[in-house]
Order: sequence, then structure tokens, then C-alpha cells
Amino acid sequence: QRLIVRLLSCPGTVAEDLRRDEQPSGIVETGFEDKIPRKRFSEMQNERREQAQRTVLIHCPEKISENKFLKYLSQHGPINNHFFYESFGLYAVVEFCRKESVGSLQNGTHTPNMAMETAIPFRSRFLSLKLKNQTSEQSCIQSSNQLPPSNRKLFELICYAESIDDQLNTLLKEFQLTEENTKLRYLTCSLIEDIAAAYFPDCVVRPFGSSVNTFGKLGCDLDMFLDLDETRNLSTRKTSGNFLMEFQVKNVPSERIATQKILSVIGECLDHFGPGCVGVQKILNARCPLVRFSHQASGFQCDLTTNNKIALTSSELLYIYGALDSRVRALVFGIRCWARAHSLTSSIPGAWITNFSLTMMVIFFLQRRSPPILPTLDSLKTLADAQDKCIIEGNNCTFVRDLNRIKPSGNTETLELLLKEFFEYFGNFAFNKNSINIRQGKEQNKPDSSPLYIQNPFETSLNISKNVSQSQLQKFVDLAQESAWILQQEDTHRPSVSSNQPWGLAAILLPSVPNRGSLTKKKRKRSANERVKNLLESLKSNRTANFTETNEK
Ligand code: CTP
Ligand code: MG
Repeated sequence: QRLIVRLLSCPGTVAEDLRRDEQPSGIVETGFEDKIPRKRFSEMQNERREQAQRTVLIHCPEKISENKFLKYLSQHGPINNHFFYESFGLYAVVEFCRKESVGSLQNGTHTPNMAMETAIPFRSRFLSLKLKNQTSEQSCIQSSNQLPPSNRKLFELICYAESIDDQLNTLLKEFQLTEENTKLRYLTCSLIEDIAAAYFPDCVVRPFGSSVNTFGKLGCDLDMFLDLDETRNLSTRKTSGNFLMEFQVKNVPSERIATQKILSVIGECLDHFGPGCVGVQKILNARCPLVRFSHQASGFQCDLTTNNKIALTSSELLYIYGALDSRVRALVFGIRCWARAHSLTSSIPGAWITNFSLTMMVIFFLQRRSPPILPTLDSLKTLADAQDKCIIEGNNCTFVRDLNRIKPSGNTETLELLLKEFFEYFGNFAFNKNSINIRQGKEQNKPDSSPLYIQNPFETSLNISKNVSQSQLQKFVDLAQESAWILQQEDTHRPSVSSNQPWGLAAILLPSVPNRGSLTKKKRKRSANERVKNLLESLKSNRTANFTETNEK
């Protein structure tokens, strides 16, 4: 048995929430079936951050006895849970029950002495375990996997699934972030927070984006937000009497320049002193300045930003949408994988559609169903209470945070139908005139001529897909039409379950062929003729042999 089992026994974690989401195949669920209250995003984030602060990351020798390792660490206090994983070596993530244990372990740890190089001393929670004597111990450690399944394995799994609903749920199960991967993401943020704390002792580094919005796939990047609110708020705290004390500070002409200066020093610090932080790039002239780097031990590509609170709020909104109905995540994962398989999305920034835009499109589509599967952002705003009120940089970011106050949808459509209809809907969407707007859940006139216009839900004058070119949008439309057509054909041509033929979701994930767009139209025309011909033939006689022959001419 994998160590995960032990790990999952930890009460009240997101893992529990994720396990609740796993359903037996073929069952249509509309969310809220189990009536278990779901955690607020902020509660989940705080709980995970606190866990991460009690956790250390240890590079281990290849051959190690798990029991002896745990016994050795337990000298510093009881261990809550742990797991091992491989990434250019063996690593252990060890979560103590108490924070003091980390300090005790660090007190017994020393900086290495190297013959040829000099170590820059830095007391972090990223450690290395060395064996004093090489023992001949057999390692029997089970590693937890941090990578998505191979294409081959995925195809096998989904070809053997029983229905398209089953295929989409399988894909979700295989690609979603595991409990361990989520822990590793929070731990990495916590390690970076320790480094940033050298400059800003009250800072918080929070994960945002797909690592926390319930739409993250194994292998996705780690978006981090350096939150300096505590540092800033110190000066606005109320004081008694007639005096007000302020810090002497340096002033710069704009918020943007302040952001650039802060990220610049943190970037330098990560580069020079951050254990395991490599390939640090300061991308300070972007619309949203960032520091990009690889965290070698965890294998995460990290994007660190600051002064980006609205992005954290969009992550919270997506978290709510993802948790409201179990079909949402399954459909988003299906569409994200479909887009990746056809190179509609890419890990390199450019004129491509992003996963964030695709998620917004799925949410919008689900708001348009009858009855709607997801509520509009405006209706989430009307459900908000005083505690939910939130204005960031003049933008109204108020919406209900308590998931249990949102009424479940009465819509019972299957995932199979939703997948087909998604492609139909966007294959025929009037992108030339209309914009997508999840705040109102209605198409609206485009305010400018961008090929694809998806209104930013909080900064409503911004288009989140401004980068998308006309040709990329056309490619999306052509592929959506083609996939709708393929899925339509499947109604009559689904092979037997045991035949291992790519069908349903597998058929639409197959790589595209050159000039697929023009082929599509021809193929569709030919197929319509074929269908009429087939129908006539079958009406005329039962001569199935001739029927196939006619088809092939
Ligand atoms: N974001 C935004 N506006 C954009 C792009 C991004 O508000 N035009 C915010 C969103 O909250 C998004 C987050 O920044 O979730 C991170 O962006 P990105 O990494 O591009 O998207 P992810 O949702 O994390 O998806 P992926 O798995 O592709 O990283
Ligand atoms: Mg991301």
C-alpha cells in the first residue's frame, strides 16, 4: 500500500474534499449530495499554510530505512505525516505535529564544509540527510508520484471506460493534484516565504492560480503571491492619544515601481541564497511584474508576483465554481486536456488561449445551460453578507464565500451531453460580435476588436484573452466543430467496450492532422451524404455487405 493511505488519514484536509468528489462511474451528480459543509477558501489556505510551517523537506540517500529515518526524526517531536517522492534523487516531506520540532531539528543541523566550494550559510527547512557509515540497508521506500500519467496510459484507461462520463471522470482522477502534490506546493511557498522574510518579516507567500483553484493538473506551474499587507497595515493600526507614529520609508513614484523594486531584491535573494532555486529570471516589465524560477527539489516552475491581490480573488472564485458541482471540474479537465492535445494551449507565453481563459469559457457555458448549472457572479454577489464585502483597488470583489449558502443546480445533464454541447456552443459562437462575461452570464457586445474577448470578472475593463490572435481563435473554432462532429458520429458508431479502439473522449484527443480545418468541412459534407446513403440502403434491404462497400466508394 502506498504511503498516501496513511497521509490521507489526516482529518479535515482538502484531500477529504477531493475524495468526496470521486464518484462511481456513470452516476450523474449535481453536487451537495453528501451535505458535508465545504471549507472556505481562506480557511483551507490558512490550514494548509500552518501545516506547511511545521514541515521540512529532506534530500535523502537512495538507500534508507524508512523506520530508522522516522525514528531519528522523532527525537525532535511526533510526526504527523510524511511521504517520499523522487525528483533527481529521493526526497522526504515530513510534517511534525508541532512547529517547535522544526526548530529543534534545525538546531541539530549544520552547514556543510566543502573542499572546493564555499557554502553560503542559510538556515532553511530544506535539509540534506547524510549517512555517516555506508550501510548495506535495502531501501524499500514507496515514492509518491508527482507526474501526470503518460499519454499511453491515459489512452488505455479512457478506451476501457464504459461511457464518456466515465472517461471524463477517469481523466479528472488521473490528472488532478494529489494530496501530496498539494502539500508540496504549500511547502514550496512556505520555503520561499522564509527567504522573503529576510526582507519583510511579516510577509506571507500564498499559492494562487491552478495550484489552489481546484483546476490544477499534475505538472502545472506554481503561482505565488507575495502578500505584504501585514507589513503595510502596521502603519494604519489605530493608536490612542494625540500621537501617530509612522515608519520612515523610501518613496517611489508609483505602485508599479514599488512592485518592481520589491521583486527585484527578492529575485536577487532567491538567486544568491535560495537553496534549490535555479534559473531565476526577473520579468519586471510585464503587465504583471514577476520573478520566474525553478524550484529544483520540488520540480515546480514558479512565478512569484506581488501586488496582485485580484488574481488571488479570481482563484477563490474559481475554487467556489469548482466545488459547486462535480461536473464542473470533470468538464474543465476534459477541455484543458483536449486543448493541450491539439496544441491550442502551450507552456510558452504567446497568442494562444490560456487554461484560465478555457476555464472561464466552461464556466460561462455552464451558466448558459437551462436550468443553469452554475450561478452568475452577480448572483453570488447578491448572496454575499457583510463579511464578504471586498473592494480591491477600487474594484468590487464582493461575492459569497460560504459554499453552503449557494443553492445546488436542478440541472441533471450528463457530462457526455455537456461535452458535445460545449463544442457545439463554441463551434458556433459569434466571437466576431460577442464577448464572454461570467459576471452576468450573458453574451455582450465586444467593447473592442480583440478576436476573443473574455471580460475579467473583477477588473471589468480588462480582457483576459487579449493575447489571443485571430488564427488561434479560428483553430479553436475549427477543432471545436470537428470534435462536435466526431462525438455526434459516435452515437451510431461506438465500438464494443473491449475493442480498445479510440472512442469518445479518446477520439477527440487524437493529434490533429495538417489542414484539419479545411478537411473538416469536406469530411462533414461527405459524412452527411454518407449518412443519407446509409439510411436509404438500410431501408431498401438488409444487405449489410453492400452497405459497407457503398460507404467506401
Ligand atoms: N490571471 C488573471 N488574468 C490573466 C491571467 C491570469 O487574473 N489574464 C490570474 C488567474 O487567477 C489565474 C492566475 O492568474 O488563475 C495564474 O495564471 P496562469 O498561471 O496563467 O493560469 P492558471 O489558472 O494557474 O492555469 P495553468 O494551470 O495553466 O497555470
Ligand atoms: Mg498557473
